Amino acid sequence: MKSRTVFVCSACGAQSPKWVGRCTECGAWSSLSEEAAEPPSRAAWADPGRPGPVPLSEVRTDDQPRLPSGIGELDRILGGGIVPGSVTLIGGDPGIGKSTLLLQVSDSYARAARKVLYVTAEESAIQTRMRADRLGASATGVFLACETELERILGFVKDLAPDLVVIDSIQMVYRSDLPGAPGTVTQVRECTTELVSLAKRKGISLFVIGHVTKEGSIAGPRTLEHLVDTVLYFEGDRFQNLRVLRAVKNRYGPTDEIGLLEMGERGLVPVADPARLFITAGRPLLTGTTVLPSHVGSRILLVEVQALTTRAVYGIPARKVSGVDPNRVALILAVLEKRAGMTIGMQDVFVNAAGGIRVDEPAADLAIAVTVASSFLDRPVAAATAVAGEVGLGGEIRPVPRATARIEECARLGIARILLPAETAPGPTDPRIEVRRVATVREAIDAALGS
Ligand code: TYD
Ligand code: MG
Repeated sequence: MKSRTVFVCSACGAQSPKWVGRCTECGAWSSLSEEAAEPPSRAAWADPGRPGPVPLSEVRTDDQPRLPSGIGELDRILGGGIVPGSVTLIGGDPGIGKSTLLLQVSDSYARAARKVLYVTAEESAIQTRMRADRLGASATGVFLACETELERILGFVKDLAPDLVVIDSIQMVYRSDLPGAPGTVTQVRECTTELVSLAKRKGISLFVIGHVTKEGSIAGPRTLEHLVDTVLYFEGDRFQNLRVLRAVKNRYGPTDEIGLLEMGERGLVPVADPARLFITAGRPLLTGTTVLPSHVGSRILLVEVQALTTRAVYGIPARKVSGVDPNRVALILAVLEKRAGMTIGMQDVFVNAAGGIRVDEPAADLAIAVTVASSFLDRPVAAATAVAGEVGLGGEIRPVPRATARIEECARLGIARILLPAETAPGPTDPRIEVRRVATVREAIDAALGS
């Protein structure tokens, strides 16, 4: 029987029975490649020793403690360490530090007398050794395999019985009995499925590195993210040292935490005082900047929200936003126009969370409103003032969660005054900081800009 083939889009994974120049699903050009339809999926799950159903109440959770990765910021986003038998997919731009991160984790595992198999399918053993020397990662329990063929990798895992396996990267690994080059949708999906299956059966923690597409998502089939327990993105600017780890899926922990690391001369190190990372201390008062104590995961980070308004020169005024929600900005501009009497309709408006951080929470609303007002009125926000509150359509300020934590963190970092929603419950008073409760946007702007 002739084996059937289909055409699979490398960008979105959509299948088409015939070749077309442009994917009908995602619109990518020249992204289709021919692959075998319904690949002969081997009976990876057919393990005769596998257990049958057990009462839920008898499933033990206590005999699987989480293991520290050696990098606290990674443990934080994983939910307190690495769960044995868990599979983590980690994506990020080339050069961002994925190999560095996982080599550091490998070294730390090996130092705790655990066995690690590091499969480098992209770099030579010498390159990896040089990186390890630079990191001071000299533990003897890390085994290195320069291998791209899945069968051999699975063999190594069975022989070595490691506690941790790193695949760097999945786009280079292939199964020789399947058609298609490494990195094609079928290869990536089938290789990951087999690796996941082996890791689950043996209780091995598996880290799989994945490339990202130009759009920034992990390359390969969409289903890749469904095959694994945790999906992490490693982000940052290659030309700056700050790196942000973020979980977009996590079966074992939160997805709202971020890990903050710095790429140094000897690898990745946690940021010393993350709370003040996104503010600039000790510079003259400027219009259009406000400090927001933002609740990110389990931490409060002080974030500088900036705005610039200028008279629109061409036709439709521009609204350019980065790091905050553009829909919230649109709403806040309408509220400022209608409830605070500011004619910003004909202004170009730019809003930005400084330092490249993203703030999604509604508590950012009031900071955005005050910042835009400050730029529009050309009056700076009073020194050492922070602002948090949700803005309603009526111009009213709605309460925000974790008000006490926000107050405490601001006080610790030398903020003298914080504006919070009027309905904020009276917390413990701190002599270092004045808490000013505001009920409306107008009142907040007057208080922040000092009338
Ligand atoms: P790498 O881990 O190879 O990135 P990825 O695997 O995501 O492609 O990191 C590469 C960059 O990191 C490279 O530009 C060199 C830099 N680097 C440091 O600055 N300090 C270090 O200690 C190491 C190991 C790398
Ligand atoms: Mg790498």
